[in-house]
Amino acid sequence: VEQQANTSFRTVLIGCGGMGRNQAKILDRLEEFELLAVCDINEDNARQAAEATGAKVYTDTTAMLAEVKPEIVAICTANDTHAALTIQAAQTPGVRGVYCEKPMATTLTDGRAMVKACKDAGVPLVINHQRRIGADLIEARRLMEDGAIGEIKLVRGQCAGDILSDGTHLIDSLMWLMGDPEAEWVFGQVHRPTPEQPDGEATGKGYDARSGFRFGHVIEAGGLGVFQTRGGPRVEVFCGDMRESGTAYQDYQIFGTGGRLWRTGDRYDPNLFIQDAEGGTWVAGSDEYTYKPIPTTDGQPGGWRPVDTPSRQGRGGIPEGYLRLARWILDGEPHPMAGEIALRGFEVLMGIYESARLNRKIELPFQQDRFPLELMIESGQFEQD
Ligand SMILES: NC(=O)c1ccc[n+]([C@@H]2O[C@H](COP(=O)([O-])OP(=O)(O)OC[C@H]3O[C@@H](n4cnc5c(N)ncnc54)[C@H](O)[C@@H]3O)[C@@H](O)[C@H]2O)c1
Repeated sequence: VEQQANTSFRTVLIGCGGMGRNQAKILDRLEEFELLAVCDINEDNARQAAEATGAKVYTDTTAMLAEVKPEIVAICTANDTHAALTIQAAQTPGVRGVYCEKPMATTLTDGRAMVKACKDAGVPLVINHQRRIGADLIEARRLMEDGAIGEIKLVRGQCAGDILSDGTHLIDSLMWLMGDPEAEWVFGQVHRPTPEQPDGEATGKGYDARSGFRFGHVIEAGGLGVFQTRGGPRVEVFCGDMRESGTAYQDYQIFGTGGRLWRTGDRYDPNLFIQDAEGGTWVAGSDEYTYKPIPTTDGQPGGWRPVDTPSRQGRGGIPEGYLRLARWILDGEPHPMAGEIALRGFEVLMGIYESARLNRKIELPFQQDRFPLELMIESGQFEQD
C-alpha cells in the first residue's frame, strides 16, 4: 500500500483516434499513471493526442517501446490490430500491464493467443468493457444475486451497431450480470447491408452500414444470437437492425421467476427498473414457466419502478478500469475486466458468426482462426440472385 501511494506507472498509448485521445486525457489526469509517449501510424492523430498531454510523439510502436521502456501499454487502435499489439507489448521486457480496447480481437484464435501471451509473460491484460464497473450494472447484478426477481430464466440484450464492435459490450455486460458463466452452445444468424439501405438506417444512427466495414473489419447490417449458459439462464442478443426499434443503446432485460429487471440504455437517469412481486411472475402451469402479471391487492397489475443506484464514482468507468489495473499489478486484486474473463463472452460472440456460417448450433469451446463473417463473404454466402 505504501508502494502504491508513490507509484506512477511509465505509460504509453498506441492509437490516437477518438478513443485514444479520450484515454490520453484520462491517463494525463490520473496520478497513478505517467503518459510519456503516444504512437499512431497517422502522425497528425498522434500529435493531437500529444498536444493535450505533453507526451512524446511516435509513429512506430517498436521504436517507442524500445526507447520509452514503458510499464503500461494502452491500445486504442483499430480492432484488427489489438491482438498483435497486445502480444508485442506483453513480450516487451519491463511491461507490467496492458489496457486494450474492445473487442479484444477479430478472431477467436487471436483472442486466445493474446490471453495466453499475457499469462505466459505474467502481464495483466484488461479489455475495456467499462460498463461492467458501472454503478447500474453492479446494482443490477446484486439484485439478481439477492433473488430480487427470483430464479433468472432469460436474459435479453439489444444494441445498435455490429456484433463485433458493439455486441461485444452487450454480451460482456450480460455475462457480468450472470456472474460470468460458461456457455454450452450458441446459435446465431446475420445479414449483410444491401445497396438499397440508406447509410445509418440498418445498424443505427452514426453507423455506416452500407460500407460494410468498420474499425478494420467487415460488419453485418443485423444479427442475432441465442446462447445457453451452463446451469444458468438462456440469453438472447439482437444487434443492428435486428434490435427492437426504439430501444436505446445497450438495453438489457432480465426475466426471473419473481419479476423482471430492465436497464434502459446508457444515457437515461434512472436507467434501471424493477418489476418484482408486485409486477409479474413466472408460474409453472400447463405450459412450463409462463410469464404472468400478478395483480396487486387492488386487482391492477403492478408496474415498473426505478431502482436507486449508488451515485456513479466520480472518476467514471475508464479511469476506474485503469486504477483497478494498478491494484491488480501492485496487490494482485482480481480485475472484472481481465482478458481471461472477456474471452468467455468473446467466444460466444464468435460462436454467433460461426453458427451463421455453418447453419448449425455451435457447441463451445470451438476453434476458428478466421473471422467467420469474412469467410461467409468470401464464399459468396450473401450474394443475391
Ligand atoms: N470502450 C468503448 O466504449 C469504446 C468506444 C469507442 C471505441 N472503442 C474502441 O477503441 C478503438 C479505437 O476506436 P476509435 O473510435 O478511436 O477509432 P479511430 O479510427 O478514430 O482511431 C483508431 C486509430 O488507430 C490508428 N491505428 C490503426 N492501426 C494502428 C497501428 N497498427 N499502430 C498505431 N496506430 C494505429 C489509426 O491511425 C487511428 O488514428 C477501437 O478498438 C474501438 O472498438 C471503444
